[in-house]
Amino acid sequence: MNAIGAAAPFSLPISLSRSSKFNTTKGYKGGFVVFAASKGGGEESGFDEKKDLWSSLFDVEDPRSKLVPQVNKKFLDVNQALEVARYDLQYCDWRARQDLLTIMLLHDKVVDVLNPLAREYKSIGTLKKDLAELQEELAQAHKQVHISEARVGAALDKLAYMETLVNDKLLDDKNTASSTTTTLSHTTYTPPYETAESKAERKSIRVSGPVKPYHPRLKNFWYPVAFSNDLKDDTLIPIECFEEPWVLFRGKDGKPGCIKNTCAHRACPLDLGSVNEGRVQCPYHGWEYSADGTCEKMPSTKFVNVKIKSLTCIEHERMIWIWPGNEPSSPIIPSLLPPPGFQIHAEIVMELPVEHGLLLDNLLDLAHAPFTHTSTFAKGWSVPSFVKFLTPESGLQGYWDPYPIDMEFRPPCIVLSTIGISKPGKLEGQSTKQCATHLHQLHVCLPSSRNKTRLLYRMSLDFAPLLQNVPFMHILWKHFAEKVLNEDLRLVLGQQDRMINGANVWNWPVSYDKLGVRYRLWRNTLEKGAKQLPFIK
Ligand code: FES
Ligand SMILES: [Fe+2]
Repeated sequence: MNAIGAAAPFSLPISLSRSSKFNTTKGYKGGFVVFAASKGGGEESGFDEKKDLWSSLFDVEDPRSKLVPQVNKKFLDVNQALEVARYDLQYCDWRARQDLLTIMLLHDKVVDVLNPLAREYKSIGTLKKDLAELQEELAQAHKQVHISEARVGAALDKLAYMETLVNDKLLDDKNTASSTTTTLSHTTYTPPYETAESKAERKSIRVSGPVKPYHPRLKNFWYPVAFSNDLKDDTLIPIECFEEPWVLFRGKDGKPGCIKNTCAHRACPLDLGSVNEGRVQCPYHGWEYSADGTCEKMPSTKFVNVKIKSLTCIEHERMIWIWPGNEPSSPIIPSLLPPPGFQIHAEIVMELPVEHGLLLDNLLDLAHAPFTHTSTFAKGWSVPSFVKFLTPESGLQGYWDPYPIDMEFRPPCIVLSTIGISKPGKLEGQSTKQCATHLHQLHVCLPSSRNKTRLLYRMSLDFAPLLQNVPFMHILWKHFAEKVLNEDLRLVLGQQDRMINGANVWNWPVSYDKLGVRYRLWRNTLEKGAKQLPFIK
């Protein structure tokens, strides 16, 4: 694949030198060259001292004095492309230091001008003029800082993009090799970003056959299982988690509890009962259980001590969380709140007949949108020549190109995304930062059983706060969410069917599958028992 060719050199700034305002004996007069300021005499000695003080910070070689990588060819090899990127970053680094020094020097000048003990008497008019000029200089310097900021952002984007291209190439090579030697259903994929240590133990992505029992390590996480708003004082919420039935309710103190949804007496489902003074009452013979699973009432017979299984259960950020693992619960509970400025508009729970990994694979993929969501949010979208997910080499978060969508996989089963929606239906070519309004989504895919997922969906907006007060809006959001999900569901159900019959649902990953692939690598590594999990900083 010749994709590396897209790595064109970073465009250099036009103004490579400025005239000096600092290199005259009277000081401030015209434009300036930062380093020239420290070379002037007389009044510039203060700058010399300042520069000495910070010399280690500012004495960085101007990369323009080195050989600028020349790019005449349309396609670069990996090393040439990396050389270009390295040069760009060196330049950004040098430029940022110059900007900082400029601002520091200007700051000193302002202090000097305002110094009442200055040896030189200046009229108010002159002072005003000097200050106005300095103000202008400062504005210019700040502008330069913003340009540098944008330049660094672009350089990082380019690096991430190059990584994608390199991965593409490696994937292509691997797939070509595989296709000549193996049948499709036996193709394995070797991730291109293995570390030196992991190379000895190459990981392949093979997700086929009936879903295996869940690995105990997957249980040692905090799992959100319900929204606080849905758990009233008298409600019972039945859930399935890792193939066991549980019931959520609020105890006497109003705190949530999670106990086994099976009565100790004769295995009646407790969620069919009711909450009685903070205890779950079984509908069959009235045994009552507290939030830690202790049976506190046993009507019509001699009381015996009985306790059913319970899970550590807490309420955090308007959600109910459980710890289903056998290890002690982590003291750190993740934060899943939308970013500042967003307001929650909908919280929806759905029980879906698919394995949670397949649903996560689907949510972590955006390339399917113009083909799958043709009746909903992607109606009318064109099909881009390339869809890329840009992310740091070791990350589980990044953004989609050309869609203004940021996305993150948050272990063990959570997807967070922010979508720029300033131009609904025409999302191409904008980053989320460029969009004026955004929609933030939380998807929690709770592993209920090997073919069931409890999906918690929360939608937030950073605009239209009044929509929250529109009657029945919640029903409308639920309708939209279900419509979008149904477009996916029929496909994922089909995948599940084939997977159970032996097909590999990760048979042939390509570059836009990056985030899904990383999720699978993370999960495989966890289930293999490795201490160090990939992509976790
Ligand atoms: S089955 Fe629950 S009290 Fe008898
Ligand atoms: Fe989808």
